[in-house]
Amino acid sequence: MSMWSRERKRSRWTIAVLAGDGIGPEVMDVTLRALRALQDDGGPQMELKEYAWPSHAWHREHGQMMPEDWKAQLARHDAILLGALGDPGPLSDPDRYLLSDSVSLEPLLAIRKGFDQWACERPARLLKGAPQYLRDERARDVDMLVIRENSEGEYVGQGGRLRPGTALEVATQMEVFTRAGAERIFRHAFRRAEGRAEERKAGHRAPREFPLAGGGTAAAQVCLITKRNALRYWGDMYTEVFAQVAAEFPHIATHHELVDAACMKFVTSPWQFDVVVASNLQGDILTDLAAVLCGGMGVAPSCNLNPADRRSPPMFEPTHGSAPDIAGQGKAGPAAMLLTAAMLLDWMGEEDTRAARAAERLRRAVEADLQAHGIHGRSTSEIGDAVIAALS
Ligand code: IPM
Ligand code: MN
Repeated sequence: MSMWSRERKRSRWTIAVLAGDGIGPEVMDVTLRALRALQDDGGPQMELKEYAWPSHAWHREHGQMMPEDWKAQLARHDAILLGALGDPGPLSDPDRYLLSDSVSLEPLLAIRKGFDQWACERPARLLKGAPQYLRDERARDVDMLVIRENSEGEYVGQGGRLRPGTALEVATQMEVFTRAGAERIFRHAFRRAEGRAEERKAGHRAPREFPLAGGGTAAAQVCLITKRNALRYWGDMYTEVFAQVAAEFPHIATHHELVDAACMKFVTSPWQFDVVVASNLQGDILTDLAAVLCGGMGVAPSCNLNPADRRSPPMFEPTHGSAPDIAGQGKAGPAAMLLTAAMLLDWMGEEDTRAARAAERLRRAVEADLQAHGIHGRSTSEIGDAVIAALS
């Protein structure tokens, strides 16, 4: 590919659609309808190519979750939109085709690794109409972006089982942290904080003030999470690299929390956080908690990106799983999937103004629907129809 075409802004997009298992296909159906409605009404030009894998159904037929050449097939797309993986449900069917979590969810990790999607972004904002689990009124002002290191740490998959099944069995599970990995995720977090400070100055986001170490205040903050009091090697390296990167952004405030204290403060005073950056596993745990602060998994979007290379396809997937307890009943809330699609459109919107406008329209329609009806009491398709009607 020539330099020129690499730099060229895209205005036609090919998206790989992986609906997956359980409620995945149900919420994806609504989301594809919304994307097509946007496309037909001045939105971005998209080829939405649906794949039957990864899924339990594919595994049942082929003995694996994805074909051997999955990476080559997905690499032909600009981005990946994924529904959910895991237990296909319904739970009431004891004879359903079931795989172990490590098999059924492996494609998620393989795709994240395969396309070096090293940054996982999980915004957490309490939308009007979403369940508010915290009683304190200030909980309405939660507006954070949790950035999870997505390429290494606790998820490198190194280790093994020695003498399996015996009384002398040993299991090892390595954690690997690199300076380069830390540096890129921290720099990305500070850039996102800069963007949020700009949005606050422009009145597009509620203003905030964070104390700067040298005096004065900043409009945005990055909080580093570690467990450096117990896991000192990577904790100390993270602390050092964070300070180095922070020095490049003197106008952004910084903070550190130990992960256990951060869990407590996410519940007692989540409105104090802005951008939060955490390791792969600690970020995984914190983002379920952050999702609950904002109304639960039913409204929590997520994406996996390689911010250094926009030509490496990112993957957009809601934080929720396949929800086997409600699968196949047409009652899954599609808000998280729709807001995830809005994140896809945001990402496209950095090159394509039609996508940027579509992202705004979709997000507004979902938020208005949520505000008017809450998340309970309507079927997946009823909510989908209402959101799509509100788009035009
Ligand atoms: C998530 C999920 C995955 C993760 C699992 C399913 C492997 O919990 O996307 O948050 O831990 O990353
Ligand atoms: Mn998770």
